[in-house]
Amino acid sequence: MKLAKTPLICALASTALAMFIFITEANAVDADAAKALAKKSNCLRCHGIDKDKDGPAYAKISGKYQGMAGAEEKLIKHLASGEKAKFPDGHEEDHMILKADDPADIKNLVDWILSLPPQAP
Ligand code: HEC
Repeated sequence: MKLAKTPLICALASTALAMFIFITEANAVDADAAKALAKKSNCLRCHGIDKDKDGPAYAKISGKYQGMAGAEEKLIKHLASGEKAKFPDGHEEDHMILKADDPADIKNLVDWILSLPPQAP
């Protein structure tokens, strides 16, 4: 009886392990892909990773939004809608809209920004 159950328990355990690995992989931020997309899309012209340019440093955006409910959706919407952005000299213009073939790439870029060590905004 005991022997007969062992393979079943092993099978269940390895399925659970495989699912766990799959889920953690799926949620992991691909920082290289995020940086490549930001570079390709000219985001880094206005945003430094930890230095302000015309736009705030990504680390400051991380500091502003980290732990805030709905931060990911808000930033994805920001990048899809081109809402008004305020520049340091006070003028406002439509923010650049981020285009990507796969919406998952935009989510990955936002998740990467939110994963940066936060700076005080
Ligand atoms: C022409 C300059 C410029 C470019 C190019 C630019 N941004 Fe921005 N971005 C800004 C400015 C200025 C702000 C500040 C907006 C504000 O606080 O009103 C901003 C704000 C943001 C924010 C924070 C929004 C918020 O709600 O706090 C994110 C995220 C962001 N940009 C991401 C990007 C990404 C990703 C790209 C590339 C697709 C990009 N930006 C390209 C100027 C730029």
